[in-house]
Amino acid sequence: MSFDTESATASPLLAALGQNIRSIRAGDESAFIKLLAMSEGKDLIRLGRGEPDIPVPSHIAEAVKKAIDDGHTTYTPPQGLLPLREALAEKFRRDNDLDYDPDREIIVTAGAQESMVVTLQTLLDPGDEVIIAEPYYMAYEANIHMAGAVPVKVPTYEETGFELLPDAVAAAITDRTKLVVLVSPNNPTAGVLTRSTMEGLAEVIGENDLVAISDELYEKVVYDGFKPTSFATLPGMRDRTVTINGFSKAYSMTGFRVGYMAGPADYIRAALEPRHSLSICATTPSQYGALAALEGPQDFFGEMMEEYSLRRAMMIEAFDALGITYGPPLGGFYLFANIKASGMSSFDFCAKALNDHGVLIFPGNMFGEGQGEGYIRISYLVDRADLAIALDRLGDLWRSVTGSG
Ligand SMILES: Cc1ncc(COP(=O)(O)O)c(C=O)c1O
Repeated sequence: MSFDTESATASPLLAALGQNIRSIRAGDESAFIKLLAMSEGKDLIRLGRGEPDIPVPSHIAEAVKKAIDDGHTTYTPPQGLLPLREALAEKFRRDNDLDYDPDREIIVTAGAQESMVVTLQTLLDPGDEVIIAEPYYMAYEANIHMAGAVPVKVPTYEETGFELLPDAVAAAITDRTKLVVLVSPNNPTAGVLTRSTMEGLAEVIGENDLVAISDELYEKVVYDGFKPTSFATLPGMRDRTVTINGFSKAYSMTGFRVGYMAGPADYIRAALEPRHSLSICATTPSQYGALAALEGPQDFFGEMMEEYSLRRAMMIEAFDALGITYGPPLGGFYLFANIKASGMSSFDFCAKALNDHGVLIFPGNMFGEGQGEGYIRISYLVDRADLAIALDRLGDLWRSVTGSG
């Protein structure tokens, strides 16, 4: 932690910093904050953040504008608009083979992120251990700390597709373990959990009387015919799983802030007050946009995936040509690439990419010090013309640091 709360110059507020926040890794010196600061005002091709560049479909934007014009500008119930929850129940039936009661088993939140926060705050006691696959989406680590609990990082490896393997989870369980976090498709690794791996995980979770979060935010962004399984469909898992999802990645709606969580009715009832206490409700006009997303034409997915697939193919071709390996990118819009042959730290590699080659990418250790060092995460969320330029520049960088080609 970089905050010097003991320093003579620390303000009374900094000196009062809570213990949970003190345990968050890196603080204001995280690679993410540093690289964003270094990138400010620079003319870069940005392959950093996971923010879809494909515009939100116009009927969704129109529905939000109409909601404002129609005066839908006050709070909704904390669990979200009923028609939206009904449309979500229908979506769960259609896409996920899951039956959730829209009245009692679904809560709409400010992005999937708030579902994560609500779930962790609702479930965790100080000292509880939460198993997460490393590399991981950083917000899980921070929010586990903010709930006073302890992230237990189980390493995953490029060689095994960055899958969280049941044996590794079993080996990490102690008498403090309460929860296992599953993210498939995964950010940052672009790996997925296959059905058979999930079956093994379900066994371990059931046998040890644990509960699970299944983060399915990237379910619509999958390649090579991969069909995601919703963890809650596995035997015995519906009552042990909070399913988290949202609109950000599927419908290019990051700024709208709509997500949702589903689980058994008694749990959802317990989560409603924490949810209400956090932000009261998800932004009302955005909820109308989310409803339009679910009820409107779904051909957007086809067009979106056509574009992402072309970009992904460009990435794979370029990295293969350079001899840079990466985890199998079966979901999401990232490549998690192995830069160990450069002999550089992930951060130095990214700093050089930014300063000397005009490309913003993120160091793997941002997503966990243990497994992320020696990797970079590259998103392909710019148009193909810019992506081609960026890949050329990364090729120049790779040749300059490895002396190859
Ligand atoms: C795995 C994962 N979960 C949750 C989130 C939060 O997404 P949002 O709050 O925009 O729905 C993200 C964002 O990148 C993510 O990668």
